[in-house]
Amino acid sequence: MPLARRSLIVLLAAAAFAACAPAGAEELRPYTVVGDAIPASLTGTRGDATRGRALVVERSSTCILCHSGPFPEQAFQGDLAPNLSGSGSRWSEGQLRLRLVDAAHLNATTIMPSYYRVDGLTRVGNSWRGKPILSAEQIEDIVAYLVTLRN
Ligand code: HEC
Repeated sequence: MPLARRSLIVLLAAAAFAACAPAGAEELRPYTVVGDAIPASLTGTRGDATRGRALVVERSSTCILCHSGPFPEQAFQGDLAPNLSGSGSRWSEGQLRLRLVDAAHLNATTIMPSYYRVDGLTRVGNSWRGKPILSAEQIEDIVAYLVTLRN
């Protein structure tokens, strides 16, 4: 795919989610990376898998702009990234958490947005500068959902 189109999609992805699901003025909570994972919950509690699924499937979340998955209700799904089916078999909860928090930590050239990071981002609009794209609670809800995707 041409680089320009890829960049545009990434930009739209970041913008759409920030516009539709602002995390508010929440301060980033500290977390510890161990190897390729963040083993501990960002909130100290387990997320809600049902809310997590709703967030992933919601078009505004942008996940399915790039990913496909077990979402029969969504006719159009992305083909830029791995199918999310089986994510919970391939990755541990902590690995999934780091992937969502800061995919670029694992792959500096990834097109996947860093959903829980505020520093080091370029092309961030003023209205959401200083805010993560997702809140800690939303990250935990999505992690709780992804770990259920086993095959
Ligand atoms: C702009 C495209 C894009 C968006 C938006 C995106 N991802 Fe990704 N994602 C990727 C790519 C590409 C990979 C493959 C690894 C890499 O390049 O970092 C990936 C990898 C993953 C993986 C690991 C998959 C595997 O089994 O290897 C998970 C889980 C994941 N993404 C979940 C999500 C969730 C949940 C969202 C929404 C909150 C999301 N992604 C949004 C592009 C995206």
